[in-house]
Amino acid sequence: MRTNRIALLTSGGDAPGMNAAIRAIVLSAYHYNIDVIGFYSGYNGLINDKSKALSLHDVDDIIHRGGTILKSARCPELLEEIGLNQAVLTLMKNKVDALIVVGGDGSFSGLIDIEKNWHGKVIGIPGTIDNDIDGTDLTIGFSTAINTAIEAIDKIRDTANAFERIFVVELMGRHSGHITFNVGIACAAEKVLSFENVNVEKELDVLKEVAQEIKLAQKERHASYLIVIAENLWTGGVTEFSKQLNDESGIDCTPCILGYIQRGGSPVAKDRILATKMGVAAVQAIIANKSNVMIGEQNNGMVLVPLVNAIKHKKQVSPSLVEAQQNILALVQQSQC
Ligand code: F6P
Repeated sequence: MRTNRIALLTSGGDAPGMNAAIRAIVLSAYHYNIDVIGFYSGYNGLINDKSKALSLHDVDDIIHRGGTILKSARCPELLEEIGLNQAVLTLMKNKVDALIVVGGDGSFSGLIDIEKNWHGKVIGIPGTIDNDIDGTDLTIGFSTAINTAIEAIDKIRDTANAFERIFVVELMGRHSGHITFNVGIACAAEKVLSFENVNVEKELDVLKEVAQEIKLAQKERHASYLIVIAENLWTGGVTEFSKQLNDESGIDCTPCILGYIQRGGSPVAKDRILATKMGVAAVQAIIANKSNVMIGEQNNGMVLVPLVNAIKHKKQVSPSLVEAQQNILALVQQSQC
């Protein structure tokens, strides 16, 4: 059956490059003579029937903008039967043939629920700074987020060097360490603390180890010491970590939360291009009658991944990255102290 109308929404934490995906979808749909309606504020737009027909004009100056012109939100209402029914009703009322959602794993769960209750096709595009979606080498927004964090931490390093000071910087990523590990390595952090290399059951041991390493560094040279730590890793967060370090060993360590700065800003080239490729592939997948799949990128090619597989497991941080940090870089940095 021919697809006449695609609905599109962005959902969950916004990610730089979502606008580039919207643009690519609208342009591709135009090429194939398909209408696009954008629903506002994630699934809330479907539940409340708040939308706008998207024209070429709407997307002609957005590829370089962070955030999303369609707004985004988390939507617990979709988990309730009444919210789900309302969303499906809106799709039917608007004569939608296919729904594309740009978002993370929570957004894909919602999409799977919609598919079970609706006749149309559903396609997911991975858009999250966390890079934690299985089946794609990268998610839209991750490259920009790590570049933003690196730029910020390089600046922190300057002041840390000037004052010979110790900083602990908390990075986003929800429950995975893609941002923390990649940024830690790119900033030559002396210590990376993340889910992949820290046993959270043994916080006291970790504190002792960090304190010992810092003291050694301070004894041997006068320089800064930078720790990056994944959000949600430490009970009480980064402020509690530095307080405990101080209580345990008298070490003065300045906590810093980079926070939402990591979600904003103009997308880097990599995100604009990835989002564009995924947007085009999403429309082509719909034309090829595919449904219930996520568009992923693997080895530089576009692939279709069943949505259930994409959310079954969190994508692991590259083991070679973890191993390089743990078994080579951190050890050499220590031995130089
Ligand atoms: O998923 C993106 C993300 O920024 C995570 O890194 C972070 O844990 C979370 O969203 C924050 O969510 P919220 O915007 O709801 O505070």
